[in-house]
Amino acid sequence: MNACRICGEKSIVEFFDFARQPLSNSFADAAAGGREFAFRLAAGFCTGCTMAQQLEEAPRDRVFPADYPYRSSESAGSRRHFTEAAKTLIATELTGSDPFIVEIGSNDGIMLRTVKEAGIRHLGVDPAKDAAELAAAEGVRVRVGLFAEPTALEIRAADGPANVVYSANTISHIPGIESIFDGVRALLAPGGVFVFEDRYVSDIVENTYFDQIYDAHFYLFAVRSVQAMAARFGFDLIDAEHLPVHGGSIRYTVARSGERRPRASVGEFLARERERNLSDPDVYRAFGARARATCGNLTALLRDLRAAGRSVVGYGATAKSATVTNYCGIGPDLVPFICDSTPAKQGTLTPGSHIPVRPPEAFSRPYPDYALLFAWNHAEEIMAKERGFRDAGGKWILYVPDVHIV
Ligand code: TMP
Repeated sequence: MNACRICGEKSIVEFFDFARQPLSNSFADAAAGGREFAFRLAAGFCTGCTMAQQLEEAPRDRVFPADYPYRSSESAGSRRHFTEAAKTLIATELTGSDPFIVEIGSNDGIMLRTVKEAGIRHLGVDPAKDAAELAAAEGVRVRVGLFAEPTALEIRAADGPANVVYSANTISHIPGIESIFDGVRALLAPGGVFVFEDRYVSDIVENTYFDQIYDAHFYLFAVRSVQAMAARFGFDLIDAEHLPVHGGSIRYTVARSGERRPRASVGEFLARERERNLSDPDVYRAFGARARATCGNLTALLRDLRAAGRSVVGYGATAKSATVTNYCGIGPDLVPFICDSTPAKQGTLTPGSHIPVRPPEAFSRPYPDYALLFAWNHAEEIMAKERGFRDAGGKWILYVPDVHIV
């Protein structure tokens, strides 16, 4: 049995094995040819502290290289979300005199732009140099590198303690998460908060979002497991808020133990997670069985469409689509190309599955009969943008919560 990366107990029950998988964002490597890095992608559930996590770790410097292609500001939904997140923090936690906020994983600075415009002291920390340069070009203060205690001490020495440490879609990516909490402890001002958002395992399980499991998503957080993790590192979970982004996320707020009273939301989430049996390994095994069925159904549909002479194009070369294409065995024979608006992905190939990535303009030249929506978390925005596809008789294929055509 594997030992849990959080509590150290040898109590991990494996619930899904995706076999060998490439790194989900290695579009450039795939396009360069040669042997691609691969690792065993398998997920398990700790029967001790209840944290869902991967069983093997892909090297962090490979998962988040300097040319990491993802851009947080690529979708209007995401831009709206981060503007709102910044405004909420400004109104609630950054109200004292000369407050200071640090963001871990600031990407292209989409959240900190609003903070900067409000004239509030800030610093983004991100190892993705290319994305950090975009943030800097917008006037956002950034430091290229990983966040850990030594970084935190340097920041504190230069800028003073932080009232807020914020992070979105990053904390669950870091297997050695104690390094983050050590850094946050060193950096936070007394009474300060650590606010982080991540995909919610309850939504993932309920909707069979199996593609949310890929190299970067090392942990799948629940309120109960985050509360246990925070306690282990000397923090209290004081608030939890459900967010609609990425199919369902939670914004967790933690403070040093004993500094703040937990809100009612924490108890309410814990009760709901008990009702949903989120601490029962069988719930995760059943999720795995549904994921297998979805893959079988999706490939069968794509083969039937090919046999019937129907054209299919993918939409959204997401990181999570690496799990779908590679686990289900979907290559350019079934999906000849995927459209994506991210310049750094265009002209490359999808990791492992080697499906060409083309700009969205390629979608309508001519429209295919069907479009497989890998970026299902942006469905509303993409379907509105590509209204012409439906008008031309095109149909969208979705594979969550199960395979269906709309
Ligand atoms: P995400 O699901 O990890 O946010 O990735 C979404 C991907 O989909 C990203 O590569 C950008 C792409 N995308 C488009 O190509 N067109 C769009 O309209 C949107 C919203 C996203």
